[in-house]
Amino acid sequence: MHAPLIAPSLLAADFARLGEEVEAVARAGADWLHLDIMDGHFVPNISFGPVVVKALRKRAAIPFDVHLMIAPADPYLAAFAEAGADIISLHPEAGPHLHRSLQTIRALGRKSGVVLNPATPVEAVAHVLDITDLILVMSVNPGFGGQSFLQSQLAKIAELRRMIDSSGRDIRLQVDGGVTAATAPLCLAAGADVLVAGTAVFGQADYAAAIAGLRAPARAAA
Ligand code: DX5
Ligand code: ZN
Repeated sequence: MHAPLIAPSLLAADFARLGEEVEAVARAGADWLHLDIMDGHFVPNISFGPVVVKALRKRAAIPFDVHLMIAPADPYLAAFAEAGADIISLHPEAGPHLHRSLQTIRALGRKSGVVLNPATPVEAVAHVLDITDLILVMSVNPGFGGQSFLQSQLAKIAELRRMIDSSGRDIRLQVDGGVTAATAPLCLAAGADVLVAGTAVFGQADYAAAIAGLRAPARAAA
């Protein structure tokens, strides 16, 4: 398994100062920046699009991890790749041909991710492992930050860890939603290796301490 990475979610940042927020969180030790793209249709909230991703791209060198909560997603994959996304993840429910969408992301030279909603079974990703770089387990229903972690998703994380390990493939296992210093150890123990955290980083006064706090369980276990 990889060393765990922390990916702060910009959704919880101060939107009036996005550029500075990106710089600050990168300086504070974030491994990736998680960018939540919401269309008010696939999820009941609207965030920002590729123009904003592109504007922020020059503010930090860390990988941009773009989580698409839009449907359809296919018409926008190239725009997010051009905007500077390093990883582009989408939900199987966002279109009729998940395999084709993942192929498109790979053909754009970007890493591909599949996002599983709380009710979406692990089987949704079982037959696309060969073109998947990241699997994201939603531990809340997508659309909003600041929700409570769904404990029911821990068994899914463990099941996916077994699936990834037995495939022998280099696939990251990410968790998103309600990740805090209290729930992070549970996610890591279940086998996650990338933690997304919005409120637990941008909602705190000291970003570096918050990020270190999320990593702490990994260090203790090492
Ligand atoms: C929810 C988003 C999350 C959100 C997490 O739809 O995918 O990335 O920002 O926020 P917290 O960490 O506050 O639950
Ligand atoms: Zn997200």
